[in-house]
Amino acid sequence: MTIVPVELGERRYEVSIGEGARHLLAGAVASTVPGARRAVVVTQPGIGVTVDPGLPLERLTVPDGEDAKSLSVVESLCRGFSRAGLSRSDVVIAVGGGVVTDLAGFAAASFHRGTPYINVATTLLGQVDAAIGGKTGVNIPEGKNLVGAFWQPKAVLCDTEVLATLPPREWASGCGEMAKYAFLSSGPNQAPDGSLLELPLVDQVARCVAIKAEVVASDEREGDRRMLLNYGHTLAHALEASALEPGAGWDLRHGEAVAVGLVFAAKLARQLGRIDEERVELHRRVVGSFDLSPALPPGADPERLISFMARDKKAHQDLTFVLDGPAGVEVVHGIDAADVVATLAEMKESEAGSRS
Ligand code: GLY
Repeated sequence: MTIVPVELGERRYEVSIGEGARHLLAGAVASTVPGARRAVVVTQPGIGVTVDPGLPLERLTVPDGEDAKSLSVVESLCRGFSRAGLSRSDVVIAVGGGVVTDLAGFAAASFHRGTPYINVATTLLGQVDAAIGGKTGVNIPEGKNLVGAFWQPKAVLCDTEVLATLPPREWASGCGEMAKYAFLSSGPNQAPDGSLLELPLVDQVARCVAIKAEVVASDEREGDRRMLLNYGHTLAHALEASALEPGAGWDLRHGEAVAVGLVFAAKLARQLGRIDEERVELHRRVVGSFDLSPALPPGADPERLISFMARDKKAHQDLTFVLDGPAGVEVVHGIDAADVVATLAEMKESEAGSRS
């Protein structure tokens, strides 16, 4: 088992990564929530991963899909916690991917003004990203993840055994996030070493977790550096929002959109003279080696994408991107919309045909 600590002082916790990590749950509950007398497990009907927290438990399910991330589902979870007699000394266990850990974590953050929770991440996306770092929350009609809390779990278990049954597009979605980590380093003074792709799966997950843990420990509430974890995400979020518009006729999973966003970010960095074509090619190669397409979906409208990007959470007043450059990947504000338009146009041209 590989253990990666998230060093957050009194909120420090460990991420356990490996085959069968879910079986560590009872020990994790006993050591991190020693006063707990009961547990509520939050999961989805199709997940099919059973866990034993070593305590009397109730099981609550939330619906599948991003639509489940709503305040009404948080209310029904909190009412379920209350009916189960959960106190602030007890524990919530989230078993699932990002939808489950975001919902259960936010319900735990709110219930009794803060109840401990532990994540058992069952998807690749959850294991390398969503389950770690304490971002919890739900969507409202005005935007994704607009209501939430930073509430760190007591422990995270990433069981790579359960990934064997992941549906192909769910797997692809996790790969998009993994591709992002290939361009991030595991320390402020370290360059990415490019070996992520060569590693066995458990070590790949552990490397991604170590990078995320280091970034989160340095900037828990996303004052600045944590924005690096959104590399490739500015366009990705715009693509996801566009895909939801009436009549779009196409869809992309989160990680699939991140893959397009990574190649776009590289091309924008080249347009701005921050990197050369060889570095853009490296982005394309990494995305390709995770079997992901770098192409914009044929129906994606550049004007709509720009308007979504201008509303991105990172943007504040202007167009902001996380971009590669001579000093590595960093946050860059004040990007000229004309450069974004030119890069999208070039991308539509040059990547056409690479989406099967
Ligand atoms: N998923 C990005 C973050 O946790 O900051």
